[in-house]
Formats: sequence, structure tokens, C-alpha cells
Amino acid sequence: MKKNRERWDSRYLEERGAAPSPDPWLVEHADLLESGRCLDLACGRGGNALFVAEKGYTVHAIDISLTALSELQAEANLRNLDVHCVAMDLDYCSLPASFYELVLVFYFFDPRLMEAIRGCLKPCGLIMYATYNHRHASVRPGFNEAYLVPPTGLANYTPNFEILLNEPSAGERRNVARIIARKQKQ
Ligand SMILES: C[S@@+](CC[C@H](N)C(=O)[O-])C[C@H]1O[C@@H](n2cnc3c(N)ncnc32)[C@H](O)[C@@H]1O
Repeated sequence: MKKNRERWDSRYLEERGAAPSPDPWLVEHADLLESGRCLDLACGRGGNALFVAEKGYTVHAIDISLTALSELQAEANLRNLDVHCVAMDLDYCSLPASFYELVLVFYFFDPRLMEAIRGCLKPCGLIMYATYNHRHASVRPGFNEAYLVPPTGLANYTPNFEILLNEPSAGERRNVARIIARKQKQ
């Protein structure tokens, strides 16, 4: 865990100061945002967390990097936004059940976490997920393939959800999988 944290911390130290901006795909679909509690998983410097907090969400922002989180918390406080940063190693995570109206996951994928991610959404809650797919192995040789979405895309990980948008292969190099899905009412 320490090695992973150190790696991300030093990367974020290098990027320090650059304004975190939201993912353009999230901005494009901002009409789907409502209000309530949002979880931004592996939030990094928190461009997405800040964006949805500005839309009125209370955001829990989880990441392993203390460097990224301290910068995010300072920025959120400055803007008076309801963002709560939590340092957590998602290899050992536990998420509350049926707690969030919105879950954001951008550029982080571990299939072992998908059940917990589904479980932490409230009925009718929305998930917006974008991350690298299997094609990324040719874009970034050496990338750990266990953390790449298989060709079938992300829909297999959201069974019984209403799929609003499903793109197994998007982006300039077709190396990104994206999904927007709503948990059923129950
Ligand atoms: C590619 S970045 C994406 C950051 C952000 N979601 C974005 O789209 O800008 C991946 C993030 O996952 C975090 N991360 C990697 N391994 C992690 C772990 N085991 N637990 C929690 N966060 C982790 C890193 O610190 C990093 O911020």
C-alpha cells in the first residue's frame, strides 16, 4: 500500500498547482445530476468532486493519495463546498450500503470492487463510470491488464441497472469504457 500511495503522491506533487477541472464527459451529461450524497471513488485532485459539489451534492471523495486529497480539501474549503475527503486504500475498502444518490468513478477499475460500488448506491441512484478498457494495453504497454475493462464493457458489472448510456469502446483511441446506469427502485 505504501508504494502505491508514494507513487501517486509524487505524481500529484509534480502536478501541484494546476487547477483540477472536471472530466468533459461528466460536464456533457451534467443534466443527469440531481442532488444528495455523491461518492467520488479514486477522486485524484477532485475536478469531478468539485464540479458536482458546485451543483449541490454533498461529496465524499476517496483516494489513496494524501497529497491529492489535501489539495482538494483546501480548494473545496476555499469555495465553501460540501466536500469530505477520505484517505483510503481501496484494496481494503468497505463502503456503506444504500447510501449514495450518485457514484462517480473515473480512470480507476478493480473488478473486485464492483459489488461494493453497486451496493453503496441507493435505489434509483446513478453511477457514472469512465475508465480504460482492454485496448489501453496497446496505448500504454505494460499497463496492468487486471485493471482494464474487458471488451464486453462495464454493463456486465451493473446487472439489473437501467442502462442510460453504454460505450464499451470510446475516446479518441477507443481505449475508454463508459457507462451511465441507474439502480433499480427495488
Ligand atoms: C488515473 S487517477 C484518476 C483520478 C481521478 N478520478 C480523475 O479522473 O482525474 C487514479 C486515482 O486512483 C487512486 N488510487 C490508485 N490506487 C488506489 C487505491 N488502492 N486506493 C485508493 N485510491 C487509489 C490514485 O491516487 C489516483 O488518484
